[in-house]
Amino acid sequence: MATIVIAGASRGIGFTLAKLYAEAGDRVYALCRNPAGADALNALASFSEGRVTVGKADFGDGASIDKFAEELGDAPVDLLLNVGGIFIGETGPEDRNFDGWRESFEVMCIGPFRMVQALLPNLERARGKALTVSSQLAASPWPYGGMYSYSAAKAGLNRVMRALSIDVKERGISVCTVHPGYVQTDMGGPEADITALESASGIHDVAAKMNLDNSGTFWKWNGEVHPW
Ligand SMILES: NC(=O)c1ccc[n+]([C@@H]2O[C@H](COP(=O)([O-])OP(=O)(O)OC[C@H]3O[C@@H](n4cnc5c(N)ncnc54)[C@H](OP(=O)(O)O)[C@@H]3O)[C@@H](O)[C@H]2O)c1
Repeated sequence: MATIVIAGASRGIGFTLAKLYAEAGDRVYALCRNPAGADALNALASFSEGRVTVGKADFGDGASIDKFAEELGDAPVDLLLNVGGIFIGETGPEDRNFDGWRESFEVMCIGPFRMVQALLPNLERARGKALTVSSQLAASPWPYGGMYSYSAAKAGLNRVMRALSIDVKERGISVCTVHPGYVQTDMGGPEADITALESASGIHDVAAKMNLDNSGTFWKWNGEVHPW
C-alpha cells in the first residue's frame, strides 16, 4: 500500500485520481480548498475504511500547505500529485487583468513548488515522486496566441520542476510534470477529447514509470515525452 497525497482533489482530474488510488487500496490524502464542502470526496472517504483522508491545502495559501505538512508529521510519502489549477483567459493583448496573472502564478507555479518543498522530508523517507499537472500550453511549439497568464504560469511551473528534479535527485526524489490531455472537466468542457478517467489512468501509469533516471521529464498523459 503506497501513500499518495493529491492536492486539488475536489473535482475533475484530481478527484478521479483520488478515486483510482483509493480503489487500488492505497492510502490517500485528498486535499482541497474546502473539505467541508467537498461532498464527493467525503463520500469517497466514508466508504474507504479509513484509507482516504480529506484534508485542506490551498495552493494560494502557503500557511494551509505548511499546516497539512505538520499534520502529516514524518509519514513517508510515495507520491505527491499536484493537480489543482485555474484558468483565467485574457480577452486579448490589451487585457489588464494583472490580479489574474498573480493568481495564476500563485496557484499553478508557486503553490505546487511550496507543496513539494513542504513534503520534501516525507518524500525523501520513501524515495518518493512528485508529479505536477501542467499543460501543453507550457510548451514552445503550442501554436496559438492568447491565454497569457495560464501558459506563462504553466511554463514557469515546468521550469521550476525541472530545476527541482536536479536539486533533489541526490535525496532520491523524482520530480516530473505531465500534460493531462484535453479533458472533459469543468475546465476542459464537455467537447474535450478524453474523459477524466482516461486522463487519470494515464497519469497513474506515468507516475508508476517515473524514476531517478527520467526525473525532470515533461510527459504526456499517454506516457510519451512532451516536446517542450
Ligand atoms: N481539463 C483540461 O483539458 C486540462 C488541460 C490541460 C491542463 N489541465 C490542468 O489539469 C489540472 C486539473 O484541471 P481539471 O481539468 O480537473 O479542472 P477542474 O475540473 O476545473 O478542477 C480544478 C481543480 O483545481 C482546484 N483548485 C482551484 N484552485 C485551487 C487552489 N488555489 N488550490 C488548490 N486547488 C485548487 C479546484 O478546487 P475547487 O473545487 O476548490 O475549486 C478543482 O479541484 C489543472 O492544473 C489544469 O490546469 C487541464
